[in-house]
Amino acid sequence: MQIAVTGAYGQLGGELCRQLGANAIPLDIDTLDLTDRDAVLRRMLALKPAAIINCAAYTQVDKAEKDAERCRAVNAAAVEHLVRACERLDCPLVQISTDYVFGALPSKLRPWREDDPTTPQGVYARTKLEGEQAAAAYPKHWIVRTCGLYARPSDTRAANFVRTMLRLGAERPELRVVADQHCTPTYVPHLARAILFLVGHSESGDSLPSQRWGIYHVTNTGETTWHEFATEIFRLAELPVAVRPITTGEYGAPSPRPAYSVLDTGAYHRLGGPAMPDWKDALAEYFRELRGAGNGN
Ligand SMILES: NC(=O)c1ccc[n+]([C@@H]2O[C@H](COP(=O)([O-])OP(=O)(O)OC[C@H]3O[C@@H](n4cnc5c(N)ncnc54)[C@H](OP(=O)(O)O)[C@@H]3O)[C@@H](O)[C@H]2O)c1
Repeated sequence: MQIAVTGAYGQLGGELCRQLGANAIPLDIDTLDLTDRDAVLRRMLALKPAAIINCAAYTQVDKAEKDAERCRAVNAAAVEHLVRACERLDCPLVQISTDYVFGALPSKLRPWREDDPTTPQGVYARTKLEGEQAAAAYPKHWIVRTCGLYARPSDTRAANFVRTMLRLGAERPELRVVADQHCTPTYVPHLARAILFLVGHSESGDSLPSQRWGIYHVTNTGETTWHEFATEIFRLAELPVAVRPITTGEYGAPSPRPAYSVLDTGAYHRLGGPAMPDWKDALAEYFRELRGAGNGN
């Protein structure tokens, strides 16, 4: 079963292609610009994939505030183009989305469920929600919302929090990290494994008995803050860095960030897919792989 993976040079797209091996059709901007409506249809009709997993996105959250048109073209309009191709091919679409669709605090502090009302703040968040809506208009969709991605250490092109912390921690004895945003960082190999389960392509051979289309929250489990996450990174890296807690306001990023981004993964786990490990265990796995002792999954 050949699966088209867009955003194939990115963190998640790259990992999906790695896990799919010869079953992947990797596509990125140099081979298919998803904002080109006609090119998307032409290319997909020629390739005839059994499913499309859309990992391409405009992911520079702060830059997006001044580049809304391009951000919307990639995160929303491109999904409409992919839907048009899926309709013609009658093939499923996996649209990757984000915790950022939840901007406000939940009325009761508990992890967000799939049917909780969305409250996106900022250009990136709003365009990602528009991308979800485009995908949801097509019946054979899985929308996978996730949070705080970090690719395996061998992905040296990846831009993520873990790599940034390790780089800064090697240069400075003290770092200031936001302590009032709650999240669940997610190790990309675990997320990729879960997505392949959803599309019915799983190394372990256990695939979904029937396709249960819809929205799923898929992250590692447990919850933390960026400050606590950074502290754990330096503990595992054995780097003597003092991590000082600061507030979101003190950090002063141009685009708003959700204060509470923890997603309830119950619906995904009830499908019987590979369990998503606790975030601390996932980070420990990253460090085992960094030191050359990864299990290669
Ligand atoms: N990273 C996170 O922490 C996080 C958290 C929650 C959800 N997500 C979602 O997860 C998905 C994967 O994220 P990621 O971190 O793997 O992203 P990533 O590393 O930024 O990769 C995205 C890829 O899409 C490509 N792309 C951009 N515009 C394109 C276009 N017009 N046509 C074709 N390809 C294009 C990018 O190319 P260029 O690099 O050349 O632009 C890049 O290779 C995204 O949907 C993202 O919104 C990410």
